[in-house]
Amino acid sequence: MKRPIGIFDSGLGGLTVLYALQKAYPEESFIYMGDTKRAPWGSKSREELVLVTDEIVDFLTSKHIKSLVVACNTSCSLVFDHISKKTAIPTFGLIEPSCKDAINKTLTNRIAVLGTTGTISSKAYTKTLTSLHPSLDILELECPELVPFVESNQITSQKSISKVTHYLDKVQNFGADTLILGCTHYPFFQPLIRSIHPNLTLVNPANSILSVMSPFMISSSHPTIEFWVSGNPDSFSAFISEHFNWPTSKVKQYQPTLATP
Ligand code: DGL
Repeated sequence: MKRPIGIFDSGLGGLTVLYALQKAYPEESFIYMGDTKRAPWGSKSREELVLVTDEIVDFLTSKHIKSLVVACNTSCSLVFDHISKKTAIPTFGLIEPSCKDAINKTLTNRIAVLGTTGTISSKAYTKTLTSLHPSLDILELECPELVPFVESNQITSQKSISKVTHYLDKVQNFGADTLILGCTHYPFFQPLIRSIHPNLTLVNPANSILSVMSPFMISSSHPTIEFWVSGNPDSFSAFISEHFNWPTSKVKQYQPTLATP
């Protein structure tokens, strides 16, 4: 089974998941798809997400992937059931593993979740957390401004710092001891969050899925990595060279077949 693992997101956020997986399983091969042209997905309807993710899942499965990681909390919240019914390939989502992780980590049973509008309005986190532990206090906050700061590589800009601080103040007023970063773009803000609230326990879904995926990992002697983006490959390449150590020669242009919803 020397086939690659497919990973997708609206854009750059799923790179946090790819990074964690590649670090934990360096002998695996990966194909990453970032739909940078149609990001953000956090404000899309379920119908729009079905169309966009159907196309991406078809593309990745045509590359003979052995498993699929939905590295997007919005898609996990709104269309995960649809995706897993569509393909016979083992498909992994982020929500249940992150909730289990948060429950294992909290000492006070007060958990906050930051996410996109789609994720938060679906209540997927609250439903999953309460199904696993009936007596939690949960705060869910939608943070629609944060993804564009990552997509435009303004992670440490003054505007970004003030927005992140604004949401963290709400988390602190609520008294959460554990914060789920319920959007794969948010781990890019981890250094900032830690500098503002060093005592807050952070749950990065990218780390939460590692143990869930381990039974499916089979080493390959020649691991490869490949990136496909629907937006500008040059700005994607510039982003990965600044934040990661991946070869930019492996970035390819993907042409979406659907008109942009
Ligand atoms: N990174 C995705 C998520 O985890 C999508 C964010 C967006 O494009 O709005 O929800």
